[in-house]
Amino acid sequence: MRTEVAIVGAGPAGLLLSHLLHLRGVGSVVLERHDRTHVENRIRAGVMEHDVAALLDAVGVGARMRREGLVHEGINIRFRERTRRIDFRDLVGRTVMVYGQQEVVRDLIAARLEAGGTILFGAEATAIEGIDGERPRVRFRENGEEHLLTCDFVVGCDGFHGVSRAAVPADRITLFERVYPFAWLGILAEAPPASEELVYAHHERGFALLSMRSPRLSRLYIQCRPDETLEAWPDERVWEELEIRLGGAELGLRRGPVVQKGITAMRSFVAEPMRFGRLFLAGDAAHIVPPTGAKGMNLAVADVRLLDRALGAWYGEGDPRLLEAYSEIRLRHIWRVQHFSWWMTAMLHRFEDASPFDRRRQLAELDHVTSSRAAGRMLAENYTGLPFLEEGEPAWEDPS
Ligand code: APR
Ligand code: PHB
Repeated sequence: MRTEVAIVGAGPAGLLLSHLLHLRGVGSVVLERHDRTHVENRIRAGVMEHDVAALLDAVGVGARMRREGLVHEGINIRFRERTRRIDFRDLVGRTVMVYGQQEVVRDLIAARLEAGGTILFGAEATAIEGIDGERPRVRFRENGEEHLLTCDFVVGCDGFHGVSRAAVPADRITLFERVYPFAWLGILAEAPPASEELVYAHHERGFALLSMRSPRLSRLYIQCRPDETLEAWPDERVWEELEIRLGGAELGLRRGPVVQKGITAMRSFVAEPMRFGRLFLAGDAAHIVPPTGAKGMNLAVADVRLLDRALGAWYGEGDPRLLEAYSEIRLRHIWRVQHFSWWMTAMLHRFEDASPFDRRRQLAELDHVTSSRAAGRMLAENYTGLPFLEEGEPAWEDPS
């Protein structure tokens, strides 16, 4: 089997890249180890930056998002038993879109299949070979049989646990990692969200977050220990803790059947570089952010947006320069977002080893962010996302 671009992984990164390449007439094959139902039902984050939502629209996969997604003009931050709002529209003139990642994945799969694209579900990549030559190859297993996919480029969009990053010799890659001493327990509940906009809560018992997927579906999280299991958290206990941390009485928190529950570890991670000969990494394969800044999917989209342009320049004009610059351009933005995600995490969570000084400092920072326009703007600018520029990624100048 042969294609131009072999894409490993049918998450948002791999699917969007395949779609973008198709729009410019470049062929690709997506290999995905799970089946379609699994990929379409995996519950992940749900906040899209202003320009990410605009990009999905511009490339023809935003129609359902515009109908069913929720445009949010700000977020709430709760601490010291009070809720303060950060008004994005007022501070930076931008908004975010709340629309589940699995909905984006469904829309992209539908678009690819409708256009006759090839996504091989149940096809697990097992090895990537020849990345330093002109004909790299991906070995994969499908229905118990071994196959070979030959291509011009391989793009590893196979997430944190994928095979692509592992294919790189250890002496050519540097990994940066920080693991946090807590996790998030998340539930999806059939209950109308108690607030129209997200509520990020700092509480002495730990962080909590109220988010949503629709006017009838709440998505809620609480900080827990990383070694805890779901057995320790029956629904009743989760609701009680949410009530306390979110100020449930004041908020009018509504309970409902819990339809999904899971625990997610928290880490910051970056692999450098993101290009090795003809192998490129994109999305979670190259970097992980803690979910507090809601950036995971947004970074994946920014990666493949640039990669699409770079591959377009290579196939169109034979110009390799953007491919050569991919890693450097992306890493500059990725580290900016790493800082933001770490900062939001550090400001909002309870750290067991924090001293009384640290706790007072955390509250002082929350006061500052919710009362100073300059500080609020910094949060709003990062949360809604730095604008994409035509020529590169992304804008560093003040956009206003
Ligand atoms: N062969 C084929 N597919 C694989 C392999 C393999 N060896 N290993 C992993 N995959 C698939 C996974 O099954 C998954 O569907 O790669 C896909 C990776 O998708 P995601 O984990 O969604 O990663 P990405 O597309 O980079 O999207 C990043 O996803 O994890 C969230 O919060 C994160 O929002 C961020 C987004
Ligand atoms: C979510 O809705 O799943 C969500 C929202 C905001 C975050 C993280 C997750 O920061």
